[in-house]
Amino acid sequence: MRVTLGPSILTADFLHLERAVHEAESAGVDFLHLDIMDGQFVPNITFGPFVVAALRKTTPLPLDVHLMVQTPEKHIASFIDAGADGITVHAEACQHLHGVLMSIRTTGAAAGVAINPGTAPESVAEVLHVADQLLVMSVNPGFGGQSFLPTSISKITRSRELIEQSGAQVIIAVDGGVKPSNVGKVVAAGASMIVAGSAIYSPEVTVAEGVHALLAGIDAVVAQTGGQQ
Ligand code: DX5
Ligand code: ZN
Repeated sequence: MRVTLGPSILTADFLHLERAVHEAESAGVDFLHLDIMDGQFVPNITFGPFVVAALRKTTPLPLDVHLMVQTPEKHIASFIDAGADGITVHAEACQHLHGVLMSIRTTGAAAGVAINPGTAPESVAEVLHVADQLLVMSVNPGFGGQSFLPTSISKITRSRELIEQSGAQVIIAVDGGVKPSNVGKVVAAGASMIVAGSAIYSPEVTVAEGVHALLAGIDAVVAQTGGQQ
């Protein structure tokens, strides 16, 4: 399976968001990752459906909406209406996770389940058959620019083994602190959807440099493993 890469726009220049998106698009990303935070489930507050709808008008890239909110089931319709192609909810925020994922799928959008660093992949084993992606958080959610938690690598491997045993068709996404220095290990462990924010939107690099460095890290490990993910 081809490994895909999408920037989280959280650390992009929000005064020039259209430019930030188009630079990532030109650099060759596969999707946009939109971090929605409510100040309840996580300490930070970001943006809502209006910004997603504005982005929908500026790019054909798939919009991967990451709901870091309490009671995400209340917000699915508004983000679908805004143009989301995929919605990921946190297992820790759902009382009826199976039902929430099913409700996302019935809209035609991809359904994702995210697990925080403190949540075991085994805890979502029963919903793998109604999920399209398992998002393994490699930082505690709430902010961009955090350091990758090294324990995430073994967790990605365990998640892949769990998915293989279940026979479910679920891709593993990883989000938080991913950099050119660790993306190879993340992919080798079993991730095929990579989210990166501050590795792409940062004063240290241009967007193109950030994207290309990550793609080089991905390509290197895919070449070593003969493309087997
Ligand atoms: C954190 C978000 C991530 C974050 C990624 O709560 O879900 O998407 O913005 O940014 P970096 O790659 O800088 O950790
Ligand atoms: Zn995210």
